[in-house]
Amino acid sequence: MFSGKKKATHDKLRGGYYTPPKLADFLCEWSIRSPLDKVIEPSCGDGNFIDSALKRFSNLEIKSPINITAIELQKSEIEKAQQRVRDSFSDIDLDIHWENKDFFKHYEKLKGSDFDVVIGNPPFIRFQHFDEESRDIAFNHLRDFGYKPTKLANCWAAFIQLSIELLKPNGRLAMVIPAELLQVKYAAELRERITQSFEHIVLVSFKKLVFKGIQQEVVLVLAEGKRDHLEEYSDIHTVEIEDEDQLNEKTLSGIIKHSHAKHTNKSVKWTSLFLSDPEFKVIESIQGNKKLLRLGDIASVDVGIVTGRNKFFVVDEDAKKEFDLDDFVVPLVGKTSAINNLIFNQKKLKAFSEKFPSNLLALKGIDEKTFSEGLKRYIALGEQEEVHTGYKCRIRKRWYDVPSTHLSEGFLFRQIHKFPLLVSNKVKAACTDTIHRVQLIDKDICFDQLSASFINSLTFAWAEVCGRSYGGGVLELEPNESEELPIPFNKSINLDVKLISNFIDQKDIESALDYVDEELLIKGLGMSKRRVSLLRSSWVRLSNKRLNRK
Ligand SMILES: C[S@@+](CC[C@H](N)C(=O)[O-])C[C@H]1O[C@@H](n2cnc3c(N)ncnc32)[C@H](O)[C@@H]1O
Repeated sequence: MFSGKKKATHDKLRGGYYTPPKLADFLCEWSIRSPLDKVIEPSCGDGNFIDSALKRFSNLEIKSPINITAIELQKSEIEKAQQRVRDSFSDIDLDIHWENKDFFKHYEKLKGSDFDVVIGNPPFIRFQHFDEESRDIAFNHLRDFGYKPTKLANCWAAFIQLSIELLKPNGRLAMVIPAELLQVKYAAELRERITQSFEHIVLVSFKKLVFKGIQQEVVLVLAEGKRDHLEEYSDIHTVEIEDEDQLNEKTLSGIIKHSHAKHTNKSVKWTSLFLSDPEFKVIESIQGNKKLLRLGDIASVDVGIVTGRNKFFVVDEDAKKEFDLDDFVVPLVGKTSAINNLIFNQKKLKAFSEKFPSNLLALKGIDEKTFSEGLKRYIALGEQEEVHTGYKCRIRKRWYDVPSTHLSEGFLFRQIHKFPLLVSNKVKAACTDTIHRVQLIDKDICFDQLSASFINSLTFAWAEVCGRSYGGGVLELEPNESEELPIPFNKSINLDVKLISNFIDQKDIESALDYVDEELLIKGLGMSKRRVSLLRSSWVRLSNKRLNRK
């Protein structure tokens, strides 16, 4: 009845999703230029990249043994890779250094090896779930190279950072990398280092998902001309293609020849590199504009309530009645679709509660002596079903006390489909962590006006640039990313909230944007019509890019 989420699979925990052969073939063909190239694959899995590299070498005129270093943590996987090589390449002179090791622990031995090429697709594992000893070793190496690693990061970034350091001058890097590279904060240092380390970079993204069975969106990073010292800028080209079938060097160089390189520096989020040149320039000027008000200047954004088991803590009307919970619950909304306009009012809450459970069991600070018989029965039922043994519940003083249940003045979409929305919470409802909570710092601000001012091309475009997009088209904004959103608000604005709400109800977001853009961007901030229309087309381009990716 109150069952929780499924445990993460073994493959997920070790980041074990293998690269489709067409991608690996392409990356090896691009990066391996000479039969003498010394190649490293830092996490080879069952050997897709090794296979592709050997195919590539076979097409070059081989004069001496092929030199590849292949590292992999999982014994069973590296053995599969070795078997594949024995099965398919027994006729070639090989010098493969198989290392069934942890890349980070083995790194000391690799230092100074001077590789010409690094290929691969690093594991996608959060450092929180990572072997601590290995993480500490990785962090020490990173610090040696001048990085400032953080535990919030994901280990793929460290894999790439350290791989770059193994390349010799003029070396090439050709890797499949989670698309989070383009914008997440924890990858800012990596973006900067790639920019500083290579002369020329090409990012290839796909309109369709290329890893079957997982929602992970990826980009290919082709970086060449490894420098022997760091420089401020590099040339960067972006290419967007349909899927892996369109990957070939001719298409790529054709596209590149016909577009200007963009220059990236450290403040640029790479999502914006996929914009047209004029759009990029407008967005770039916003990235550097410290004067623009950010949502975080006037409000704080916090995750919604983490109950530990929504099925138990979020109660429907029948259960509320059956267990006499009236005095122990507060209204709650748990779906973005229910807060679909600027104002969340009683009518909307009622409509939501008719379809979904909408009462949060909020017991913190309530003396047990005052618990009703019904509530006691409900808690006993939870214990019978072992809700209290779940990770989040068992570490609480009283397992049924959901912490941090403060109500907020507003909500913000955490997961965005078409466009982001800041919603005024008129009914003081709680929300689960599918929705962010927004609290005003300056209590004199009218939240309805703030919500209305959010509907503009500048904020929308920026949400696309700095949000994380997942397969299936969803854009996700973390609280800190939401606080970074520029917002053309000031206390004297007086927008027609009703008019905007009507447009949104009629699914006419363009008219709502036209109205607010005119009032706040053109009349308010003095932006030209052309700049505003470039912001609008940036939003349209980037949101279509993610929405069309299936
Ligand atoms: C995303 S898979 C990619 C495998 C292969 N490169 C490919 O593209 O098909 C990542 C691999 O990294 C391995 N791995 C995870 N942590 C590792 C570590 N610390 N050192 C070396 N390999 C690791 C996993 O076992 C998994 O096989």
